[in-house]
Amino acid sequence: MSMLVINGGRALAGTVAVSGAKNSVLPILAATVVNAGRNVLHNCPDLRDVQSAIKILRHLGCKVTREGQTVTVDSSVIERWDVPDDLMREMRSSVIFLGPIIARCGRARLTTPGGCELGPRPIDLHLDALRRLGVHIEERGGEILCEAGKMEGRDIILSFPSVGATENTMLAATACAGVTRIINAAREPEIADLQEFLQKTGANITGAGGSEISIVGGNTRRDTEHRIMPDRIEAATYLCAAAACGGDVTLRECEPEHVGTITSALSEGGCEISVAGRSIRLRAERPLRAMPPVRTMPYPGFPTDAQAQMMAVACTARGTTIFLENIFENRYRHVGELMRMGAHIKVSGRVAVVDGGAPLHGAMVQATDLRGGAALVIAALAAHGESRVGEIHHIDRGYEHIETVLSALGADIRRE
Ligand code: EPZ
Repeated sequence: MSMLVINGGRALAGTVAVSGAKNSVLPILAATVVNAGRNVLHNCPDLRDVQSAIKILRHLGCKVTREGQTVTVDSSVIERWDVPDDLMREMRSSVIFLGPIIARCGRARLTTPGGCELGPRPIDLHLDALRRLGVHIEERGGEILCEAGKMEGRDIILSFPSVGATENTMLAATACAGVTRIINAAREPEIADLQEFLQKTGANITGAGGSEISIVGGNTRRDTEHRIMPDRIEAATYLCAAAACGGDVTLRECEPEHVGTITSALSEGGCEISVAGRSIRLRAERPLRAMPPVRTMPYPGFPTDAQAQMMAVACTARGTTIFLENIFENRYRHVGELMRMGAHIKVSGRVAVVDGGAPLHGAMVQATDLRGGAALVIAALAAHGESRVGEIHHIDRGYEHIETVLSALGADIRRE
């Protein structure tokens, strides 16, 4: 299996162009199932998860081509309404295809996505919302069998602002008669990007970015072109790498307001951050100071997807930083691997206490999940000596050639 070999201890300097957002392109690829016709998506990162989503679209009958960062989906003909288990298991968020397949075909058959490294990943909020919209759902032997009855718009109150449940409900509601209101909707920027795509297809949908989204059902369809928004978690990752290593790094083509909680935490740690339009510049001298407590929350709170990367920064900072992971049950799997590099971290339930400042040293470590793997890369870049990071298929799910980007910033990193 390939691994990343990193010789750490070097400052980073240079400019990075941020890619399109993984967590936006995935629901929008699923949404092309609803918009029968030609869907041209620009700024699509070439990631393992995107390749998995494209496999599902082709399985359903879509014609999908890629030219550079542009993916074209012709969904004029949909021949199937099921997603087989092997494809469901390739990418846990494949459940996002449930709503669009029901909207287009009136029925759907998926297998339960199963758990992942972060915990059981239930989908009860998705299924409750779809049932309220008139979908008959039978869960049998790991399969989810859906049959659309009379689909009518309703008020859907989410007990938790789940990103995926918000997206699935938006997509299913396009096929409902009347108005669907999603109350306590997720407010992540990727939801607004999905709304913008759906509006371009002719859908009558408003409110994304706030806690209440309204969808007026109607089978509109229109050949559509859309540019995927920048990846705020990729941006957060490279900002954390620059902070942990020290140096002077500029991110281009990003949305600074989407990473406000990350830049303010890093500023508290002593980084000098300046914003100009769609660019962010971070300058840092090592060692940083410890940061205020990091509490992960639904957007606009601190993103759970940047918790591990921020923990790697905290390991290099002088002092104690406290983490509270409020979103996922099991999102500290990177802690044990960071400790192999000399980090001092104590975990109790959802709380992790990082006593930073002791120098990190290179080690053999293994990525445990996508963002935990990114955290190990950051720590290895800041550590003295050589590290070898294994299981990097986790990292390739969410970062396009991470070693190429970091090498361009002066890191000594190679894929073996
Ligand atoms: C999306 O996952 C993202 N994935 C995740 O990013 C991200 O961590 C998460 O939102 C939170 O921001 C994509 O967009 C593809 P949720 P999703 O539904 O939709 C519980 C990454 O690293 N829950 O908001 O699955 C769930 O167990 C990935 O890029 C239920 O209990 O997240 C979790 O504790 C990781 N029942 C919490 O809600 C449900 O029906 C947040 O889940 C659904 C969720």
